[in-house]
Amino acid sequence: MKIEILTLFPAMFDGYLDESIMRRAQERGQLAVQMHNIRDYAAGKHRITDDPPYGGGGGMVLKPEPLFGAVEAIERAADTPVILLSPQGRPFTQAIAQELSQYPHLILLCGRYEGVDERVRQHLVTDEISIGDYVLTGGELAAMVIVDAVTRLLPDVLGAAGAADNDSHATGLLEGSHYTKPATFREWAVPDVLRSGHAAKIAQWRRQGALRRTWERRPEMLLTAVLSEEDKWFLQELAGD
Ligand code: ADE
Repeated sequence: MKIEILTLFPAMFDGYLDESIMRRAQERGQLAVQMHNIRDYAAGKHRITDDPPYGGGGGMVLKPEPLFGAVEAIERAADTPVILLSPQGRPFTQAIAQELSQYPHLILLCGRYEGVDERVRQHLVTDEISIGDYVLTGGELAAMVIVDAVTRLLPDVLGAAGAADNDSHATGLLEGSHYTKPATFREWAVPDVLRSGHAAKIAQWRRQGALRRTWERRPEMLLTAVLSEEDKWFLQELAGD
């Protein structure tokens, strides 16, 4: 997977991409990230990338020329997504991370200031994504979120095969509890079933833990989750308590 990031602040990405799983994925050739400074595509001695909006109203708007110049300088297939990060985009979800992880090449365009010239939206980008209903100073953090969520879904990036399959949200449910050693910590013991070695009972305990946590914290997710008859019985019991 190659991800190209267009930003006015490439140095913001240093650090995050140089550690842990993002670093390992790049070292193994599973991920290649290339930064492009939008300012390099701005004309004139001062390389201006923003201007006040026509009609007034304050704030600054990213100019179209450097953004078109930066994207058009990238060699890309006709179906390569060109994604603008902005609070007006479609809300990012695990399903969108899955969708994006299928492409060999992504282009992420980080907005700034009050926004971008509308012609960028109309004639340059193919998608617009928001990472949540709050306003950041720019799209850089959002781009990092997308790089992270997509990279961990790429084949063999996570250690254990299928480690992402049971993630919260991947199954349509939140994950239940996890425990590790010690078996007793400050008088708080790990549930016996997890130490029983009984695989079927452990699987049932985990499933019920996921259902309980989802019911408690994100009940609306149960409306779209794929549920077995046993799951439904368990939820009915929970609701009756
Ligand atoms: N830029 C500013 N706020 C944003 C958000 N919530 N998501 C994506 N990009 C943004």
